[in-house]
Amino acid sequence: MPEKTEKIWFDGRLVDWDHAKVHVLVHGLHYGSGVFEGIRCYKTRKGPAIFRLKAHLERFYNSAKVYFMKIPFTREELSNAIKELIKVNKLEECYIRPIAFRGLGKMGVDPTGNPVNVAVAVWPWGEYLGKGAREKGVRCTVSSWVRINNSMLPMTAKATGQYINSMLATMEAHLKGFDEAIMLDSRGFVSEGSGENLFMVKNNVIFTPAVESSILLGVTRNTVITLASDMGYRVIEKNISKDEIFSADELFFTGTAAEVTPIVEVDHRSIGNGKVGPVTKEIMDKFFNVIREANESYKGWFDFVK
Ligand SMILES: Cc1ncc(COP(=O)(O)O)c(C=O)c1O
Repeated sequence: MPEKTEKIWFDGRLVDWDHAKVHVLVHGLHYGSGVFEGIRCYKTRKGPAIFRLKAHLERFYNSAKVYFMKIPFTREELSNAIKELIKVNKLEECYIRPIAFRGLGKMGVDPTGNPVNVAVAVWPWGEYLGKGAREKGVRCTVSSWVRINNSMLPMTAKATGQYINSMLATMEAHLKGFDEAIMLDSRGFVSEGSGENLFMVKNNVIFTPAVESSILLGVTRNTVITLASDMGYRVIEKNISKDEIFSADELFFTGTAAEVTPIVEVDHRSIGNGKVGPVTKEIMDKFFNVIREANESYKGWFDFVK
């Protein structure tokens, strides 16, 4: 269970954590017909701020649109609800989980006509890939599960049902004793982690798989591309093969939950010297520094709670 907080926002009302419940026959539970977001609120020098809220809400509404879901609240209403929820739960730093799902109605596969329910929960959440992951890096395996691709599902949408593919990959990795899975796309190129985008450093140039590798277009990915470019690095989106990651100088994951997490081993091969690399460290430091300072140069990225 995530760390319990006091209230959850559910269809426009603040309800007690223990009372935020749904019927067992909601469509979303049976067919994975939901869309969601993961966002973080950080304690910055200027007060608690939601990081890249607009970009996350943009993706949330676009995910819903692809699945013909009409979210019965405006972006402004949801933005305000999120801020209100953080305040009533008296949190300065937290993870934020908005979800919209097809509710109780017809039981067939086609959800047309079923209500769309919307909820937002917030809770404190530390390092997603385990305590100390940022400092010592994580160990990964290349998954035997291929990433679902753009011809099967809209990969730029963040839909609940799409995550059973990620779930199999990450469970397999854990059962094999690794921290996380790296999934290949259906062409055999590197796609992403089960819930993170992947970056590779080679000869001081930064590479990351492009949209055709069936990745989720991560907000943190975009943040890191922007920061690294501003720091003077060349950042190239390209097809990355499995052998390229084995011989990379450095690898790291990005994601709202995972933030920036170094990868130090893939399938028993050390990446670089098996320690957190200098470019990864520099980017990680810059990422957290910009956030803690609520850096003026990136002020559009911050939505202050108060
Ligand atoms: C499959 C997948 N890829 C990438 C990401 C990273 O996206 P973001 O940086 O927007 O959190 C996530 C997390 O949301 C994810 O679930």
